[in-house]
Amino acid sequence: MLTKIFVRYCPLWRRYYSNSTKPKTAIILLNMGGPQHIHQVGDYLHRIMTDRDVIQFPFAQNIIGEWIAKRRTPDVQKKYQEIGGGSPILKWTTLQGDLLCKQLDKESPETAPHKAYVGFRYVPPFTEDALEEMLKDGVERAIIFSQYPQYSCATSGSSFNVIYRYFKEHGFPKGLKFSIIDRWSVHPLLAQCFADLIRKELHKLPEDKRKEAVILFSAHSLPLKAVNRGDSYPSEVGCTVQLVMWDLKYCNPYQLVWQSKVGPLPWLGPFTDETVKMYGKQGKKTLVVVPIAFVNEHIETLHELDIELVEDAKKAGIEIIRRVPAPNDHPLFISALVDLVKHHLKSNLAVTPKFLNRCPHCENAICKQSKEFFAEVCNL
Ligand code: FES
Repeated sequence: MLTKIFVRYCPLWRRYYSNSTKPKTAIILLNMGGPQHIHQVGDYLHRIMTDRDVIQFPFAQNIIGEWIAKRRTPDVQKKYQEIGGGSPILKWTTLQGDLLCKQLDKESPETAPHKAYVGFRYVPPFTEDALEEMLKDGVERAIIFSQYPQYSCATSGSSFNVIYRYFKEHGFPKGLKFSIIDRWSVHPLLAQCFADLIRKELHKLPEDKRKEAVILFSAHSLPLKAVNRGDSYPSEVGCTVQLVMWDLKYCNPYQLVWQSKVGPLPWLGPFTDETVKMYGKQGKKTLVVVPIAFVNEHIETLHELDIELVEDAKKAGIEIIRRVPAPNDHPLFISALVDLVKHHLKSNLAVTPKFLNRCPHCENAICKQSKEFFAEVCNL
């Protein structure tokens, strides 16, 4: 309180205070983002559909992408309306960043103050906005921290390509210490967090149903074309699932399934909705669904799993279906973030060799340039 009054009324104190709280270490949290308001849905879809890191049309990417985005906008707007009018992903990411930095200031005073910057790929605040703000703040060190625990060229990779393009256009600032946390699918605290959330959900089931419940780990699917290019996402999601089940001592039957397929081309399966239908046919009655590749709630959990999948389950004769919450602000999840950054700050590994290695069948020229750029600025 006293500090606030001094800051407000005393210019000398204000100058001292702003210098002493100037962030030293920036942590840029990358994610895809989601529209906070219905009116952002059209732009959001347009950006996804014209992003060649996500989807590659054989020709006229912008025209086809724009056409698909326009066609899908009313349907998607309706879905956002049904979950309360917007995505909560900004709220969760901001909170996660605040909790992360607060703890880091305590545990790593030599790199404090830390400041989190939210960098979304398809809605504001954009990745470019986060970089700009960070540069204005004049930080000494920047850590790019992907909020996709499992790396895919279509998600994390797309955001990293944006960062490359930004610095290519604006130049890379001299003296900025730069490093990357690109994947963390096997972090033990992440697995413990999911295991804790699953245990709690299993305990909400009637005792006689608990043992028979099938744990369905659901992750966003990927076109098979991307999988065959060598995208590491499916194997990294599988690693998280195995660690979680190890923590749970393989207490229940489980299955990894894939959701959110769009378009007519083949995608990685089995699909979440079809699995529920088939399990219904096999006579299964109880399911616990885990969004294993999402670290916070958004449309894929709140609509696709909580509304659409529940409908499918009812029709398929499933008697109980429960959905495990995303990690959000779970203390174990925040501890995972803190542990990752703390160890990263102390290590000499500015970027993993895996990140710098392209998919064996990558034909994207931007990936090549981007990897070369990151190798250089991470001082390898
Ligand atoms: Fe994976 Fe280019 S598509 S590195």
